[in-house]
Amino acid sequence: MTVTDLQTKMYDVVKVGHEGLMGEVIKIVGDKSIVQVYEDTSGIKPGEPVENTGLPLSVELGPGLLKSIYDGIQRPLKVLQAEMGNFIKRGVSADGLDHEAKWDFKATVKEGDLVKPGDILGTVQETANIEHLIMLPPNFPEGKIKSIKSGSYTVVDVIGKLEDGTELRLSHKWPVRTPRPVKSKMAPKKPLVTGQRVLDAFFPVAKGGTAAIPGPFGSGKTVTQQALAKWSDANIVVYIGCGERGNEMAEVLTEFPDLDDPQTGSKLMDRTVLIANTSNMPVAAREASVYTGITIAEYFRDMGYDVSLMADSTSRWAEAMREISSRLEEMPGEEGYPAYLSSRLAEFYERAGITNSLCDKTGSVTVIGAVSPAGGDISEPVSQGTLRIVKVFWALDSKLSQKRHFPAINWLNSYSLYMDTLSPWYTENVAPEWNELRNRAMEILQSESELLEIVQLVGSDALPENQQVTLEVARMIREIFLQQNSFHPVDTYCSFDKQYKLMKAILRYADLADAAVQSGAEVTAILTVDSKSELAKIKYEENFDELYTQVMDKMEQEFAGLKGGYWYG
Ligand SMILES: Nc1ncnc2c1ncn2[C@@H]1O[C@H](COP(=O)(O)OP(=O)(O)O)[C@@H](O)[C@H]1O
Ligand SMILES: [Mg+2]
Repeated sequence: MTVTDLQTKMYDVVKVGHEGLMGEVIKIVGDKSIVQVYEDTSGIKPGEPVENTGLPLSVELGPGLLKSIYDGIQRPLKVLQAEMGNFIKRGVSADGLDHEAKWDFKATVKEGDLVKPGDILGTVQETANIEHLIMLPPNFPEGKIKSIKSGSYTVVDVIGKLEDGTELRLSHKWPVRTPRPVKSKMAPKKPLVTGQRVLDAFFPVAKGGTAAIPGPFGSGKTVTQQALAKWSDANIVVYIGCGERGNEMAEVLTEFPDLDDPQTGSKLMDRTVLIANTSNMPVAAREASVYTGITIAEYFRDMGYDVSLMADSTSRWAEAMREISSRLEEMPGEEGYPAYLSSRLAEFYERAGITNSLCDKTGSVTVIGAVSPAGGDISEPVSQGTLRIVKVFWALDSKLSQKRHFPAINWLNSYSLYMDTLSPWYTENVAPEWNELRNRAMEILQSESELLEIVQLVGSDALPENQQVTLEVARMIREIFLQQNSFHPVDTYCSFDKQYKLMKAILRYADLADAAVQSGAEVTAILTVDSKSELAKIKYEENFDELYTQVMDKMEQEFAGLKGGYWYG
């Protein structure tokens, strides 16, 4: 809507009409400001008052973020629901943080200390496992502490003062479209360990890295994002849901609070912030939600935490951008998206990284964005714009999901550009030969795709025996290693040790089978050893390690017993 006679800057937040609907200035032409309102604007009449807050869209940062479920502009859904039932009425403004709850603050600075922007003032134990560092806001002046006291405070109480009179609190606001400043950005060196075999072994994302998971409807984007939220070794999870299906967000909202946290034994929500865009929420709030989410992620990063941010799906965000742009009558680019689509995508993903914060804490934000191109065709602008920026591509493939190969991540099209930088980490933390094993497994999968073309023409019996073995080993890699059932209590998470053992077992089979072929053993006998099918089963067992030793012993014995060729007598 257009507002006249109001002094504004770009991105100022304004309150529109008698109901005070929240909106943002998104264009200024002469003395007219174009305002995008976050809520339904029907019934608002010309002449109603508009008030400028003079502030850009900001989030409130402080204790109480964890466990929260917000809409795209950080209004707690619980408060919204309490005020208006399940239908989001208009003009409800709600603080991002609970202003009544009290927190036990322990000061770590004292009177007379000199503090700089971003410095730590003290701590609050926010949940059982997360200590919240109270930091001087990055945009505060440097100064000497005049007073500060440990004690029980709400997020708006004054906990102390600087000598110039600046008041200190447990919370501060930060504009969502401005990245929080850091001292330095560093090169990622550690993987985000996900417990998902195909990702950890073949297409890893670094802590502080970026990954995209494009795929058609029903191919496994949401299941993968949720597995990552649950199992990754990040300290904090920020999950931004933009529902694809009508009831999908409702499912997330009921399921997430129930999830147990495998790291701590308490609830996953204790280290999670959930941002939910349900379909009845206006587009502008959806457009804002990714910024709200990443700002919260950066805030925890600044405390020294590893944060993983999932956005499911960024296509819905891009569509919100498109809708706003078309209302502004901007010149449309490809498929109606605004010309600045790729720069917005880039700006968002560039806020990922591993950084040294103003208070010298190393933390990271890893960003994993789902993309849902219509029909799964990734030649469209959002997929293309995303793939130009991110360093990891998990290619979901509807042919695989139709065959119930899950996760339906295509091992031939996917890639990770972090493999080389991370390989020393694997040598040190998984096994010295891990990189070699993994590369060899990938080569076997690639040979399989070439051999399968030949098989289509002449059938598998026509292949030489060693190539029949290659096909069998590839099948084992796919079925035992790559396939992983997110809904199976044991298989849903796979430690690196177990990944290493499974990989080693399959490749040991490959070596034994090759040697047996050379020695003239029957190929059918080689392809049907019992230990091979047992290996496929034990990945689902609680006592995997014990069974593994048995199966591997059996494999050695079976091959030793295979009747060799004539020269063995
Ligand atoms: N790793 C997995 N393990 C088991 N089933 C899966 C897995 N990934 C996907 N699925 C199956 O595929 C269905 C669709 O996945 P979903 O993540 O909702 O797709 P999308 O978000 O891409 O539309 C799931 O309901 C589930 O049945
Ligand atoms: Mg989905």
